[in-house]
Amino acid sequence: MPKILVTGGAGYIGSITAHLLLRRGHEVVVIDDLSRGHRENVPAERLHVARLQDTGAVTELLAGVDAVVHFAAFIAVGESTREPEMYFSNNVGGSLSLFEAMARAGVHRLVFSSTAAVYGDPERVPIPETARIAPVSPYGESKAMVEKVLGELDRYRGLRSVALRYFNACGAEPEAGLGEAHDPETHLIPLLFRAAMTGEPIQVFGDDYPTPDGTCTRDYIHVGDLAEAHIAALEHLMAGGGSGAFNVGTGKGQTVMEVLRAVEEVTGKPVPYRVTGRREGDPTELVADSSKLRKTMKWEPRRSDIHEIIRDAWAYYALKFN
Ligand code: UFG
Repeated sequence: MPKILVTGGAGYIGSITAHLLLRRGHEVVVIDDLSRGHRENVPAERLHVARLQDTGAVTELLAGVDAVVHFAAFIAVGESTREPEMYFSNNVGGSLSLFEAMARAGVHRLVFSSTAAVYGDPERVPIPETARIAPVSPYGESKAMVEKVLGELDRYRGLRSVALRYFNACGAEPEAGLGEAHDPETHLIPLLFRAAMTGEPIQVFGDDYPTPDGTCTRDYIHVGDLAEAHIAALEHLMAGGGSGAFNVGTGKGQTVMEVLRAVEEVTGKPVPYRVTGRREGDPTELVADSSKLRKTMKWEPRRSDIHEIIRDAWAYYALKFN
């Protein structure tokens, strides 16, 4: 079985992917600086606490590694507008250090955690990978920059990479005790749970968008389906497949109010809310065209029905925060 280095493997999507890799019998090494990740998300003997900028440590960890899955990054759009230097330094700088260590160690396969944020406010939906790359935040820009670097490294270093552009990652693996625990939390589903639990209304950011109920539409993808996409990408690279960027989403959109109602149904609790103004930088609608991933890697979302997503997320949330 191939040996895989997972960067950011103590975070939300990273820990769930590392868990799946282990279950499939891979040898897994995790590097995480724990600035945002959680120690308890990784078996202690697998975890190496270090920064990607520590090229010496990373080069050592890369000994015997067949491929890298690179999650380590800051992910909050709003924060990136307030702390752009920090985002470029961590997301771009950290990636460059990793790629340098990979070149030194002779590792030339990489799966990169990218985002729908590279498209900014898209011209049309569903969005294909050929759409214009036009991020509207330092976060999105940092991911687009790394994708660009990967294009050059494919050409000049023979580094084969798959960039997975996630749409809205959500859900959990409650049996593994793994799920979403950001601090501060900015994502819709955990905030809906919080409102249901505390009775403190959630803000719905705008109900005057040109959508059926006026609230924004997003493509919600179960983190378990996302983890499977990483495995498919690794298999593609191990089989000698070429580099490319791939959207990961379901192709179906849900509005904020639809998600809110689904949370009420699953939890059996009313979710108090208050409609406030639009949040800056929120596009009306983000829905993936994932046909490239489906065709090339035979990947299909299997757990991304919104009720199943919320059931899993709720089971984890109840376990963690009750
Ligand atoms: N929303 C609310 N109230 C809240 C939180 C969110 O109404 O308190 C709405 C947002 O306006 C949006 C939807 O719920 O319409 C989803 O918001 P999230 O913050 O959960 O997710 P985003 O779509 O903003 O962000 C996601 C990823 C980012 C990525 C971005 C691409 O989490 O990493 O998509 O635009 F950059």
